[in-house]
Amino acid sequence: MIFSKYIFVAASLLLCLPTASAADWDGSRFAWYGSDAADDIHNALPIGNGRLGASVSGGNVEKLVLNENSVWSGPWQNRVNRNPSGAVDDIWKKLLAGSVTAAGEAAMSKLAGDPTSPRAYNPLINIGIDFGHGSGLTNYSRWLDTYEGTAGVRYTSSGVSYSREYVASYPHGVLAFRFTSSTPGKLNLKLSLSRAKWVLSQAASISRDNSAGHAVSLSANSGQSSDAINFWSEARVVNSGGSATSDGKTISINGADTVDVYFNAETSYRYPDATRGQAELKRKLDAAVSAGYIAVRAAAIKDFNSLIERVKLNLGSSGNAGTLETPTRLKNFKNSPGSDVQLVTLMFNFGRHCLVSSSRDTGARSLPANLQGIWNQDYSPPWQSKYTININLQMNYWPALITNLAETQKPVFDLINMAVPRAQAVAKSMYGCDGIVLHHNTDLWGDAAPVDKGTPYTIWPMGAAWLSHDAMEHYRFTQNQTFLQSTVWPILQQTAQFYFCYLREWNGFYTAGPSLSPEHAFLVPSGQSQANKAEGLDISIEMDNQLLRQLFTNVVSTCTLLNLPNSTNPTCAKAATYLPKIRPPGISAKTGRIQEWRSDYAESEAGHRHFSPLWGLYPARQLTPLVSATHAAAAKKLLDHRMSSGSGSTGWSRSWAISLYARLFEGDTAWRHVQEFVRQFPTNNLWNSDSGPGSSFQIDGNFGVTAGIAEMLLQSHEAAVPNGRVEGLVARGGFVVESMVWEGGALANAAITAKSGGFLALRVQDGTAKFEVDGVPYSKPVETTAGGVYRVRVVR
Ligand SMILES: *[C@@H]1O[C@H](CO)[C@@H](O)[C@H](O)[C@H]1NC(C)=O
Ligand SMILES: *[C@@H]1O[C@H](CO)[C@@H](O)[C@H](O)[C@H]1NC(C)=O
Ligand SMILES: *[C@@H]1O[C@H](CO)[C@@H](O)[C@H](O)[C@H]1NC(C)=O
Repeated sequence: MIFSKYIFVAASLLLCLPTASAADWDGSRFAWYGSDAADDIHNALPIGNGRLGASVSGGNVEKLVLNENSVWSGPWQNRVNRNPSGAVDDIWKKLLAGSVTAAGEAAMSKLAGDPTSPRAYNPLINIGIDFGHGSGLTNYSRWLDTYEGTAGVRYTSSGVSYSREYVASYPHGVLAFRFTSSTPGKLNLKLSLSRAKWVLSQAASISRDNSAGHAVSLSANSGQSSDAINFWSEARVVNSGGSATSDGKTISINGADTVDVYFNAETSYRYPDATRGQAELKRKLDAAVSAGYIAVRAAAIKDFNSLIERVKLNLGSSGNAGTLETPTRLKNFKNSPGSDVQLVTLMFNFGRHCLVSSSRDTGARSLPANLQGIWNQDYSPPWQSKYTININLQMNYWPALITNLAETQKPVFDLINMAVPRAQAVAKSMYGCDGIVLHHNTDLWGDAAPVDKGTPYTIWPMGAAWLSHDAMEHYRFTQNQTFLQSTVWPILQQTAQFYFCYLREWNGFYTAGPSLSPEHAFLVPSGQSQANKAEGLDISIEMDNQLLRQLFTNVVSTCTLLNLPNSTNPTCAKAATYLPKIRPPGISAKTGRIQEWRSDYAESEAGHRHFSPLWGLYPARQLTPLVSATHAAAAKKLLDHRMSSGSGSTGWSRSWAISLYARLFEGDTAWRHVQEFVRQFPTNNLWNSDSGPGSSFQIDGNFGVTAGIAEMLLQSHEAAVPNGRVEGLVARGGFVVESMVWEGGALANAAITAKSGGFLALRVQDGTAKFEVDGVPYSKPVETTAGGVYRVRVVR
């Protein structure tokens, strides 16, 4: 564990509703707006319970874009190229012979998937709520509370104050909304469900005694004539005061004081039997309606806050600048990043809000956050809003472990388990191997075939290698032995088994190929064909070697941890023999940089957005300064070169740069990229965008920046924020940094809980600072006991 100089005083978590006066908005906690989202989802406020999501617009006529994470464009499809036999051998030979373009052509025709894309994530429905106000709402505010996971709207219309609250409940598995008017009997509304495509049925009915709520329902499917994904959705409307009527499709309430709405949707992904799916829909709604809004809301907030409050970050106060409307703060930050440090804290909290809202354990078929989390209104979303596993899905989970939200990763492991049979079939049919292989994307069915059609991205048989490392890291942070045994080990074994078969010996090394360096092309050198053409395919890619070294390292250490002897366990024995035969990192003789490909090819894009050859610097640790000063220096050269040539051009790329610099102990540079991220990429609702507001939303950058800020606090040295405090970050080994305090730009003290015992190794600042642990000068790792708290104090 490594401490930098950062941080500050924790904000207290208040569970009360805010008022509309600007001075009262805690700028670290709330995003708030003086107007509605004007039908722009990049302005709407995202809430979710890990399965159901809502984007809140807050207009005169409320528009809620709703999602359920298993509503995708269709059933599983076998996309494996019909005749891959012999293709891999043939392409390998072509690559060795220098026929790079011909190898690429063969790969595209014999290995690319057909069709080329997995399924796309699709919207669920919209809810429209017409309050009959006409225009002219005054005294308007709309907010997202990142501590509670709730959203709200308040305004005045014709002298009456109205409020709307939006809650996503993980405990009850529903969304719940409350609408009120300050003057009794002044609340009117007409609520309808709608969907642009493939609606199967719609109905609404009035409940005579209102005890179960008036029901509005809509069912639809993914459009195929057979085997489509079906869903059933329903809102229950409960009015207090006033009267209810229905035209058979909508519910109208007139003259009420308060109206509560509960919403649920279930799909055939989890309930292939429609009767069971509809019963589950009803069960959750009945339970929520009978508990009542106050109880549903309280349980939802208690649950959400119990995760959020584990980490408290304060980088200092922005004073009045932090209480302004969020769009104004974003504008001001662009001009003067130093003026609102709390906007950075808000981005950090917003990332954790989005992770808890979009990724929870909802049973055996939990689904992880996709490219848009769970929030999407399009039938053809950018990049299908799928699971891209050559960086993006993994980045979604970068904050999970370090910011103490380990349980949000569970859906990732469920998805891997869903993928295993597909990944085994693809390993067999494409490569003739046992074990599992995934390429650079997957979908809710665990699709394992190659995706799209281009030599710099399609044939990358490394997806499972990366994901297996994420499983191992989950163990390293949580020290959960059961998880190591039941989840990590099977994944590692299956993944290793594939590579034992698939890797070939080349120059004395076990080597992957055909493969590529995601998604970067090189220029074919002269003497090979076709010279100067931009191509992607090659063998012995630097990133692949880093992934393989990590995989076999993880297998060998798991064998030790689980007491599996080499003599009786062939996977253990084999991994130990493969490990020393993975090509060590290459360093370019010309430039001194980590070399991306097996030869020092000219790169097609010096400022490429992916940092694939630096995978071993972050998220892995092979290239970090304390592991290898030589490799760290070469990694820094490549990183500086990429950044000075224009990398960090997408939000997610910029956020990766933060953690890379943090790992190099360059805190000032990391902090500068945090500020650049906030200047360039957030849309009005704080979502990360591809290249700034107006471009596509992609949530990975939100998670990447949150992780980057945490990484900087645990790792980096120099800092632009002189005083600070952070509570609750987690380090490998199950060590929770209960508090860490900086004063005048240097660490003052810290308290660390050893959740599982074990040796606690510490490094403070540049490694030269003298410090004590529990009053004893530190000289070597301290043996801890499970549950023990260790106090670190720097000696000046
Ligand atoms: C504005 O709204 C706040 C609460 O939301 C309320 O206290 C205040 O009286 C309202 N002001 C006007 C002019 O309606
Ligand atoms: C440890 O892992 C097992 C298996 O994944 C899981 O059921 C259990 O809840 C985990 N324990 C904790 C404390 O998270
Ligand atoms: C297996 O062999 C390797 C290489 O000799 C060794 O490093 C490792 O500790 C052995 N594993 C076990 C569980 O004994």
